[in-house]
Amino acid sequence: MAPGPGGLEPAMESSIPAHLTVKRTRTKRVGENYTPPYPSYSVRFAEGVSNLVCAFLGVQSKQPLSREAKAASDGMWELCARDDGPISREHAVHTDEQGFDNQVIIAYWDDAEAYGRWFQEHRDALIGAGLEPAGHGRWIEAFAPEARGFETLYSSNTFPEGAARVATGAYSGEIQEHGYWGSMRDRLPIAQTEALEPAGDPFIPDNSGIVRVEPHHNLAVIRSGQDWSLCEDSELASYFGDVEPQLKAGMDFLTTEGASIGCYANRYMTSSDGDGTVLEQSFGLSFWHSLEDMERWAESHPTHVAIFMAAMKFLQANAGAKLRLSHEVAVVSRDQQYYEYNNCHSTTGILGAGRALRVG
Ligand code: HEM
Repeated sequence: MAPGPGGLEPAMESSIPAHLTVKRTRTKRVGENYTPPYPSYSVRFAEGVSNLVCAFLGVQSKQPLSREAKAASDGMWELCARDDGPISREHAVHTDEQGFDNQVIIAYWDDAEAYGRWFQEHRDALIGAGLEPAGHGRWIEAFAPEARGFETLYSSNTFPEGAARVATGAYSGEIQEHGYWGSMRDRLPIAQTEALEPAGDPFIPDNSGIVRVEPHHNLAVIRSGQDWSLCEDSELASYFGDVEPQLKAGMDFLTTEGASIGCYANRYMTSSDGDGTVLEQSFGLSFWHSLEDMERWAESHPTHVAIFMAAMKFLQANAGAKLRLSHEVAVVSRDQQYYEYNNCHSTTGILGAGRALRVG
């Protein structure tokens, strides 16, 4: 196939959409003629979308799906159906490192103003202000990156998952910026001109009652998903025998020791129907001091390198593999984040990082 303009194969495009492309002042990790070793895709949001919003709404309890916790989670789900609510909502579950069950709703908007109106109206009900929950805790972790501060990568262009569910522009064609370390940064429109260095540390201004964590500038968030619902038996054996144990080890490392390398919090979660049935999908969700810390872990830490190597072996052994991988990353300014916890244990989400650093 003859190269197209700029040396790209005709069918290949940049992960960065045309309307967010600016003159680079920061160079890419690869040259213009780089061709990735396998196809991958990004999603396209409508041009008018200035910010995306992703809110994680959690209910925490010792007893999975206790009556009280289930009612709290169902109440949150119902609020999502109200005016200005999210375009997409999903359920997931997570047993955290203290053994607590967390029922989580993941909600996406492509209109930050609609989210703002919705959140103002329902914040008290979501976090349980005035309810003094006894048998459960509630938490909200929300972030609203600019479209240029958000990037996505999918191994398949046939299924909408996570942020892809709010992308009216559907999938890109095959993109160029993947298959090498550093490609995450090259997919981020804002990184065409900005270094994305962090400034500050998270802290807790007031440690009584409902606790807010104040974040810092250029914090980075990743949701990295795996879906095995279409895999044949032989693929499943290979995924759960070789890849998933490495993934679990990496997730355990980030959860228990991540603070030492700039990871404030990590959850290895499973998608669910909200009623106790888990789906054939999982994802890691983690919050980082900086994009650079995240890059360093992915490229050089033995746990992600082991995940990567196992995945490459898996793909070689399973031609046409139906395992679907997805990845979405946001870099957010201080005022594009909101973290709030009511009656949750001390290491819940980013609360643990705020407590470890300072109070007041
Ligand atoms: C990049 C594999 C889970 C963080 C990559 C890449 C592969 C990969 C192949 C290179 C992608 C490309 O550019 O084409 C996997 C597999 C996983 C998995 C098979 C699970 C089975 C995770 C998780 C996280 C994560 C759970 C974090 C929570 C990253 C990051 C990069 C990356 C930050 C981007 C590195 C960069 O471009 O600088 N991974 N990964 N991965 N992965 Fe994973």
